[in-house]
Amino acid sequence: MITGPNPNVKYPIPGNSNLQFIKNTITKPNIIAGEYSYYEASNGEAFDDQVLYHYEVIGTKLIIGKFCSIAPEVRFMMDGGTHRMNGSTYPFNLFGNGWEAFTPTLEDLPIKGDTVVGNDVWIGRHATIMPGVKIGDGAIIAAESVVVKDVDPYTIVGGNPAKEIRKRFAPEVIQALLDIRWWDADIQVIHSYIGAIVSGDIETLSKMKYAP
Ligand SMILES: CC(C)(COP(=O)(O)OP(=O)(O)OC[C@H]1O[C@@H](n2cnc3c(N)ncnc32)[C@H](O)[C@@H]1OP(=O)(O)O)[C@@H](O)C(=O)NCCC(=O)NCCS
Repeated sequence: MITGPNPNVKYPIPGNSNLQFIKNTITKPNIIAGEYSYYEASNGEAFDDQVLYHYEVIGTKLIIGKFCSIAPEVRFMMDGGTHRMNGSTYPFNLFGNGWEAFTPTLEDLPIKGDTVVGNDVWIGRHATIMPGVKIGDGAIIAAESVVVKDVDPYTIVGGNPAKEIRKRFAPEVIQALLDIRWWDADIQVIHSYIGAIVSGDIETLSKMKYAP
């Protein structure tokens, strides 16, 4: 009988603290991740460490769906890393001693909003995701990419700035997968369809019932 890994542990592979179920390692309220999405650390670092300039005062979130694969050294740049750009970019306020009077307001900063990663997304090694980017379900981000624009579902992008390499499937197959949303089924159901899920067998997947 298939049991699969326990989705509620930090390290689903005993003895391997690099492979982490993100949902169970998050320590910040502004990061949300779905079950089974994992980060593979290079040296035991936590996923939160890969999310840069993510200050709660800015108010934007990083939201990640279920069953995502996030390779080592992937980084999410969040809005707090952006200097004001409507004049000098030098952050006088950081250094105090009277300069704090020139702290920018949120209106002075070009806030891009939440960063959203869909479900079943694979992000390749050392990719950087810039603030506010939305990545659709089933997308693939090539290794070393810098993603500056939204990525459509089931689309492979790569490079700096990341550009579309190709769609993964024909439009009707992509639509079927987006309608099926296998990742929302009960895990017991998913277990009996893993073969169809990994082979993109939409005929079999279209018979899937969400509850056992
Ligand atoms: C994106 C990826 C999956 C594409 O694989 P593929 O379909 O076999 O790609 P190909 O080698 O046939 O290349 C297809 C095109 O994408 C381009 N491309 C491939 N990888 C790229 C990258 N990392 N950055 C930019 N462009 C890339 C190729 O130059 C080629 O362009 P062309 O059509 O203009 O000639 C793969 O290149 C990749 O980056 N995988 C991530 C691996 C990784 O990070 N693993 C970590 C452990 S999870």
